[in-house]
Amino acid sequence: MQQKSVDYDDSLEGDWYLRKGSLIDDVEVDFGPKGPPICFPNYELRTMLKLGKANHEDIFFDMGSGWGQTTLIALTEFGVSKSVGFEKDEDRLQKAPQRRDNWLKQRQDIKPESWHLVGGDFEYLLRNGKLKGESLKNATLIFYGLSTTPDILRAIRKAWEGTQGRRLVYYHNCLFPEIMPTKSIFPFFVSRFPFTRPKTELEWLQKVSGKMKSSVKKGQFAKEEELWDELSHDYDLKADPTDIPYYKQRLRISVKRGAELGSLTF
Ligand SMILES: C[S@@+](CC[C@H](N)C(=O)[O-])C[C@H]1O[C@@H](n2cnc3c(N)ncnc32)[C@H](O)[C@@H]1O
Repeated sequence: MQQKSVDYDDSLEGDWYLRKGSLIDDVEVDFGPKGPPICFPNYELRTMLKLGKANHEDIFFDMGSGWGQTTLIALTEFGVSKSVGFEKDEDRLQKAPQRRDNWLKQRQDIKPESWHLVGGDFEYLLRNGKLKGESLKNATLIFYGLSTTPDILRAIRKAWEGTQGRRLVYYHNCLFPEIMPTKSIFPFFVSRFPFTRPKTELEWLQKVSGKMKSSVKKGQFAKEEELWDELSHDYDLKADPTDIPYYKQRLRISVKRGAELGSLTF
């Protein structure tokens, strides 16, 4: 016969099961070949949106919105005026609006039109500035959490030209070597517009690695080589290490370009 632990209490039996089915705990995340449809726990999303200073005046864009969790926290907790997610995967495009509809039944203070889940490729939005009624020009806060290219920054720069203080938020797995982060709370970074180029390779590496002092040579500052090794180590654990040589090349081009132009504005 199975022995019950001395601490066992029959009256708590129901609590052994995962609740699921509540508004907050409504999904089981699938880590299959497409990658997770929700990337961060809510406490990290709050950190990220706090770093981006998300507020009621913002129009927030999530590029690749999966099951819409980031758009959800931006709207339900940070009160952004509009939350827009772009997603191209058909299955995810079905799930995210179901979640949205459940939330809207509960949170009747949120206008349905302020939560827009757009089916489509955000690369189209970046190239053309518009997608299904949404314009990149209107976004005041963007979260980007996929592979980066300088073209993404050029598209945002074109859309945001003449404005000040808009924010691009990203994280350690998806870095932009062309520009300096304005601030970081690891693993997240925010760059305020107009974007600035790094003055030196070292300046950018210190900011994205969060390391200044050498751990190899006591009492000295870490040099470029040590910080690239640091990034490569971390990418081996949590991201794609083949990004590192690409970052190196892009960083060097950006620093050189800044020197040629005599301006750090990207
Ligand atoms: C890792 S999930 C992140 C979901 C969400 N941003 C989050 O942080 O929870 C990335 C999503 O981006 C979508 N995606 C990738 N490339 C895309 C593109 N070019 N256009 C639209 N969606 C894209 C993928 O299908 C995937 O669901």
